[in-house]
Amino acid sequence: MADSVFECRSAGITLPLRSGVRPIIADISLELKSAEFLTIVGPSGTGKTTLLRMLGGLAPPTSGAVLVRGEVLAGPPEGVVIVFQDYANALLQWRSVAANVAFGIERTMSRAQCNERVRDALNLVGLLDRADDFPWQLSGGMQQRVQIARALALRPAVMLMDEPFAALDAMTKAGLQDELLRLRDQTKVSFVFITHDIEEAVYLGDRVAVLNGSPGRIEHIVDIDLPFPRDQITTRQLPAFLAYRYDLHKAIGHA
Ligand SMILES: Nc1ncnc2c1ncn2[C@@H]1O[C@H](COP(=O)(O)OP(=O)(O)O)[C@@H](O)[C@H]1O
Ligand SMILES: [Mg+2]
Repeated sequence: MADSVFECRSAGITLPLRSGVRPIIADISLELKSAEFLTIVGPSGTGKTTLLRMLGGLAPPTSGAVLVRGEVLAGPPEGVVIVFQDYANALLQWRSVAANVAFGIERTMSRAQCNERVRDALNLVGLLDRADDFPWQLSGGMQQRVQIARALALRPAVMLMDEPFAALDAMTKAGLQDELLRLRDQTKVSFVFITHDIEEAVYLGDRVAVLNGSPGRIEHIVDIDLPFPRDQITTRQLPAFLAYRYDLHKAIGHA
């Protein structure tokens, strides 16, 4: 497909154990389109992180294939960045916020260009006034925004996010969800966003894929036909939102 960024064709990962092997994910067939927000939801231990690492070129499929812009994936693909759940360990504590954001680009461009990119990225996440702080002087939500800014400074085509808001309080989480949707509008970045929070998956997603079982398989992919811009209060009260939420809970086995 012309505007497809990622395509998984019956991709799976089976890892060797000391005795025998362990299938982690199996038969993953999935497509990510340009500027799409795809959320993947599933219980703990179903292989969500493994699937994201596979897309990021960090864990090669042992069966099937993963294509990025039509080419078989071989290592971390150009223009694809990963944002991790654990922001505290992802940031360099001895570097200022600006220097953290510059980390991935400072060796590839002039100082002036780099400074401009850093400013743009910090502006996008609303942290321009914290450029000189150190990570430990920021709240958890702000630290996660720094990690997102560092990813944005690379001007990625795709952001792969592994439960990035799982450790944050509900209000901070809601604010960052809206920031991501705004970023998608402004930058046309494609997102693969992993979560175990069904409501978060529905609120953010153009589509929601359900990963379940052992080995983890994509059991359903649901188109989320809710209007944009989404709103934390009104969207979450829509009958259609509640219906998606109910159906996904049932699919995962909670209802
Ligand atoms: N390198 C590895 N070797 C063996 N088993 C692993 C490895 N990495 C992950 N697993 C196993 O794969 C399963 C899925 O892990 P993971 O992808 O982290 O799931 P999730 O992110 O959904 O919680 C777990 O049972 C985990 O123990
Ligand atoms: Mg995980």
